[in-house]
Amino acid sequence: MLVDQFGRTIDYVRISVTDKCDLRCTYCIPEGFRDFEVPQNWLTFDEIALIARNFTELGVKRFRLTGGEPLLRKDLPQLVEIIKKIPGVEDLSMTTNATQLSKHAVALRNAGLDRLNISLDGLSTSVIKEITGLNCFNKVYDGIMAAKDAGFEQIKINMVPMLNINDNQIEPMIQFCIDNDFILRMIEVMPMGHTGQQTQGKNLSDFLRQIYHKYDLIESTEVRGGGPARYWKSKDGKFTLGLITPISQHFCETCNRVRLSVDGTLFMCLGQNDDYALRDLIRSPDCTDEAIKSAIYEAINLKPKKHEFIEDDTKITRFMSMTGG
Ligand code: 5AD
Ligand code: SF4
Repeated sequence: MLVDQFGRTIDYVRISVTDKCDLRCTYCIPEGFRDFEVPQNWLTFDEIALIARNFTELGVKRFRLTGGEPLLRKDLPQLVEIIKKIPGVEDLSMTTNATQLSKHAVALRNAGLDRLNISLDGLSTSVIKEITGLNCFNKVYDGIMAAKDAGFEQIKINMVPMLNINDNQIEPMIQFCIDNDFILRMIEVMPMGHTGQQTQGKNLSDFLRQIYHKYDLIESTEVRGGGPARYWKSKDGKFTLGLITPISQHFCETCNRVRLSVDGTLFMCLGQNDDYALRDLIRSPDCTDEAIKSAIYEAINLKPKKHEFIEDDTKITRFMSMTGG
């Protein structure tokens, strides 16, 4: 088992398969940004699988593929298949912006992907264009519906509510999620990179107090996830809301995860700079499983107690897409 210095068991790893994205969400990647990782530094699927297998042998049971936009990585369903075959993998999920999902939803499902989170910040084509920099709403919408048709259940829609940008989209998004049986998950903006630092997110603890009665919400424990989201369900069972509140109510004491970036660096916390490079080790000719495992132990030992997004809100210069959202 992987237990960090603060007694937290690490049983979840988020794997970024690319730092590239076809969108430029204002809170994430800056317009015109080009400084992406070069292909020779990308972990291959075999290298990702080698690290994932060593993690499972240390008790990790759940993985998520993320990015950047993971579907920009060629042949991603192959990686899904490879990871699902590793003994001990109980749950494999992916976070995507869905622009390419209509092409890949069936292949991902057939490859064994268990669950999908899809990022969508509103239902208005113009609001989406303003936030993502691209007129992509229709493609994203088609991708979401393709995922539903492919048989994915409990699809989570990730929304980042921002003051005066998309708060007028919240009500339509709630209705959209009720109509399609999706779970709406709202996320507070984290000050990651100057993009995140310049964005005014909504305080979702306050928001919950505002809508609690309107939707007759009761706290719920039945949603599968295992992340930091807390869930509420309307009394009639039709609406499920998940809130991720790193700013207004942090959850560091129960953090169970680390992140592997596309170049093979483990990041121990979104809100701290502690990292541990694995790529050179796994590319050295005499690398053993034992060496990988002891590197993982060393890395986990570096996991900090908590983020300091409030105390030091310019500390993190990496954008979310560099670490893996
Ligand atoms: N703060 C909070 N969430 C962010 N995301 C990207 N950047 C940030 C940020 N600075 C979210 C995206 C997506 C997920 C992968 O991360 O909206 O849903
Ligand atoms: Fe791309 Fe997701 Fe970042 Fe938007 S939030 S730019 S979709 S990685």
